[in-house]
Amino acid sequence: MTFTPRFPAFLHGGDYNPDQWIDRPDILDRDVELMHEAHVNCVSIGIFSWAMLEPEEGVYRFEWLDSVIDRLWKGGIRVILATPSGARPAWMAQKYPEVLRVNDHYQRAHFGGRHNHCLTSPVYRRKVRELDTRLAQRYANHPAVILWHLSNEMSGSCWCPLCQEQWRGWLKEKYGTLDNLNAAWWTTFWSHRYTDWSQVEAPGGLGESSTNGMFIDWRRFSTWQCKTFMTAEKEAVQAVNPDLKVTANLMERFWDYDYFDLAEGMDVVSWDSYPMWHSGDDVARAAEFAMNHDMMRSFKDQPFLLMESTPSQVNWKPINKLKRPGMHLLSSLQALAHGSQSVLYFQWRKGRGAAEQFHGAVVDHDGRGDTRVFRDVTQVGKALETLQAPLYNAPKQPAQACIIYDWSNWWAIDYAQTGQAKNMQYFDTVNMHYRSLWQLGVNVDFRDERDCTDLSRYQLVICPMLFMLKESFAQKLRAYVEKGGTLLMTYFSGVVDESGLAWLGGAPHGLIDVLGVRATELDALFPEDQQALVMNDDRRYAIRELCEIPEMHGAETLGVYAEDFYGGMPCLTKHAFGKGQAYYLAAKAEQAGLDAIYAALADALALPRALTDTLPEGVIATERGGAIFLQNYSGKAQQVTLAGRYTDLLTGEAVSGTFDFAVNGVMVLAQ
Ligand code: GLA
Ligand code: ZN
Repeated sequence: MTFTPRFPAFLHGGDYNPDQWIDRPDILDRDVELMHEAHVNCVSIGIFSWAMLEPEEGVYRFEWLDSVIDRLWKGGIRVILATPSGARPAWMAQKYPEVLRVNDHYQRAHFGGRHNHCLTSPVYRRKVRELDTRLAQRYANHPAVILWHLSNEMSGSCWCPLCQEQWRGWLKEKYGTLDNLNAAWWTTFWSHRYTDWSQVEAPGGLGESSTNGMFIDWRRFSTWQCKTFMTAEKEAVQAVNPDLKVTANLMERFWDYDYFDLAEGMDVVSWDSYPMWHSGDDVARAAEFAMNHDMMRSFKDQPFLLMESTPSQVNWKPINKLKRPGMHLLSSLQALAHGSQSVLYFQWRKGRGAAEQFHGAVVDHDGRGDTRVFRDVTQVGKALETLQAPLYNAPKQPAQACIIYDWSNWWAIDYAQTGQAKNMQYFDTVNMHYRSLWQLGVNVDFRDERDCTDLSRYQLVICPMLFMLKESFAQKLRAYVEKGGTLLMTYFSGVVDESGLAWLGGAPHGLIDVLGVRATELDALFPEDQQALVMNDDRRYAIRELCEIPEMHGAETLGVYAEDFYGGMPCLTKHAFGKGQAYYLAAKAEQAGLDAIYAALADALALPRALTDTLPEGVIATERGGAIFLQNYSGKAQQVTLAGRYTDLLTGEAVSGTFDFAVNGVMVLAQ
């Protein structure tokens, strides 16, 4: 599948800032030569170019960009063109302070930084629209331009008077009456009832700090605000050429906005991936980033783009370690294995000054094309060319397992004051469940509680910590099991409704008869506390942090608690319901426990696996388009034995039997 019909190829390249080098045409010429040497075919430009494009209000300077794009086009390099709304010129901040963001202590930012505009400001939106329109008129039909990159890494909220007014408007629309709002937010608590809309301020900072329902709505509102900002940009550029698609670059573990919702506003999801490799456990890191990739693929249920990654190191982590030999190819192909149609970097060439002076780049300050990093990048470029024919139009096999990951649920969990207080670890817990399936080579989709979610295509649906359970989604899960699906739900599920108000009548709401258990008390453990899950066959797995005490309503016990006053009581259960079955895991079991549970489920449900051979720990197989990406994250060379006979598409070599697999090795095996 292609998002870039003008150039249907795996994209290789990344952020390029020629505007920083405009007085060095020799360097700009050299860049194109070096791009060829590195097998780079595409660059993203203009991301932070507003001050160069509109140096004074209403004075537009496109000549430099014309010449950059023409130079690239002549050199056969394609362009992802950005709208520059991620940062604005000083003149604008000075003349129109309303474009600057206000924080939750009601302080307005001064000029500086980036990603800090007011999301409402009519002046900012007008200025963005004017420039976007001009950019589109000039370049949307240029044959080199293959995609729009809207703004950059959109994030955050603004507390200015304009945003506060919008917030109240959004609430009026949602609730209609203050009575409804007061009821949804449980405001009788601590005398927080509102009697006039004008009393409702945005939460946080100096303001409201105890009304969970309000916080959740504030996040939904912020998502909506960002989405309207983004779609206004989309409309501006697509008014000129509706066929040129738009993307916006998302981030890992991003909490501020609901990405399922935001992704609806763009044509293509792209994201910026910066794993901290070699900082302890690369297998855990790889599991985390595999999940990030699969989430990005899931937001629109289609392939995605890796918009940024570093060719070597970043410069904004506490410790900025270089990628060890092999890791660049391995981590780049990991993205491909999970559905990426690109490997793009931040950045092409290191700038001479400012904050990102020492951020890894394909071309260092020495300007050379014979460095280790340059060779690593070239290797990825060649690999993408080799994989183009077999894999570009070959997506992953449809997943038969699905994990529910819901942003409102995430916010609700983080705002709830219970259990492990502010450390309930939703993302990491989900990642543990994901990791078990990833290790087995089972493809996994992510879905949320939106009404459009269709569960019928999955054999297995997993709901880790689905604390906030909408009535409609509880019904959907129920129907899913009834018709023959397999559900695995964990502790701390079905506790509150979509306002964050506790369901009355028992948890998990609407599913007690489906699961055959009712959740009662939630216990939180201190790090030194001992607890374990003991399976019926005596296998024993440690439990940490959270344990729920279930009351049985017809389920069968598969494992019990080992210790304490609930020792011997059920911890893992199974219940037949309709044509399906529902599992309940009442505590946070260690990874090995989850691995055992999912290995049994994958077997019982015959979930498709990339490879059924037993692989050494840390060697992972991931399927895409019928090929198997074999990846070694174990941090050491491994001996692998495969039953089948394959060709490594990267090298053309035959692979079978027992062989040595290099540290950070990667193969793309086809039969
Ligand atoms: C983000 C930004 C880029 C750059 C990189 C550095 O992803 O989008 O502009 O700052 O980080 O890693
Ligand atoms: Zn604002």
